[in-house]
Amino acid sequence: MPFRPRYTGLIDKYRDRLPVHDDTRIISLGEGNTPLIRLNNISRQLDKEVDIYVKYEGLNPTGSFKDRGMTMAITKAIDANSKAVICASTGNTSASAAAYSARAGIIPFVLIPDGKIALGKLAQAMMHGAVVIQIQGNFDDGMRLVKEVAEQAPITIVNSINPYRLQGQKTAAFEIIEELGKAPDYHCLPLGNAGNISAYWMGYNEYFQTGIVNQRPKMCAYQASGAAPFLRGHPVENPETVATAIRIGNPQSWDKAWAAQKESGGWFDEFDDQDILAAQKLLAEKEGIFCEPASAISIAGVMRDVKSGKIPEGSVVTCTLTGHGLKDPDTAIQQCTVQPIKIKAELAEVKNAILQNMG
Ligand code: F0G
Repeated sequence: MPFRPRYTGLIDKYRDRLPVHDDTRIISLGEGNTPLIRLNNISRQLDKEVDIYVKYEGLNPTGSFKDRGMTMAITKAIDANSKAVICASTGNTSASAAAYSARAGIIPFVLIPDGKIALGKLAQAMMHGAVVIQIQGNFDDGMRLVKEVAEQAPITIVNSINPYRLQGQKTAAFEIIEELGKAPDYHCLPLGNAGNISAYWMGYNEYFQTGIVNQRPKMCAYQASGAAPFLRGHPVENPETVATAIRIGNPQSWDKAWAAQKESGGWFDEFDDQDILAAQKLLAEKEGIFCEPASAISIAGVMRDVKSGKIPEGSVVTCTLTGHGLKDPDTAIQQCTVQPIKIKAELAEVKNAILQNMG
């Protein structure tokens, strides 16, 4: 039987491309190495010859892509002798910060918008023992407060303004290139605080500049219409969307995201909540892949752009599914029109239920 070394996380794997030393104590939960799944049914439904793959980041240890950045941010915080970390979050960053801090033995403070984070994410932060601070404000208020606190106290910010976060997150682009044997033609992803698009662009550039690949993808990023500062061209107050993960009006990596879009020749676009939820349901129903609403916007994006011909036939497209659908069970259940069938615990009733639903 052939043996393979145990996978021990992305810092170990990409050590020579990340700012760590041989003796750095690495804080890892085995993040990265997520599947790149080809969409078969949805691609067929589009009736165009396009190869669409999803990078299922919901399969990271805490269920989102944030773990790629957090393993780096917490590793570097420990390296710098930090005793506490802080972040503002729409939910996933706080879940990830909480888990990696627990692993490292430091205190995580997380600022979240009161009542506007998905249940699973709140459960994670609480279970991992984070100090959860619910603010009467949104993510942008939280971000402002976190920056002010970190100026006055010895505490490390682990939002994506921490450069180590992007270093970790760039590895998703490496993995995609390694699996495809080349860079995709287009990369579609949701756009919130804009760290992830910046990180992917950094990763694609790194493999391009070192000659590992000879092309880079066009970066196509999508926002919810109620929270679309990149589409409006300026920050928006009171952002609102069912995709709470990207309910952000004042993105921190504004310039980096514009640079990625412009340098790559890609584009930004927007979708309303109904379209976002429809894409989430379609992916779950037709491909068996459950992602959270914010993630599904990349599916809405690729479908619209393939249909319109903006993404031409023959293209290879990758979409990042940033978070797992289980993060937000409330939103999922609310949009399911078919309710569970309730019956007595009797064979005849089970048979009847089966017969009526054989299609
Ligand atoms: N998708 C999900 C599931 C997210 O949680 C986020 C951001 C994004 C997309 C957008 O990525 O900010 O790098 O452009 N969530 C952050 C959080 C803001 O606090 O968890 P981005």
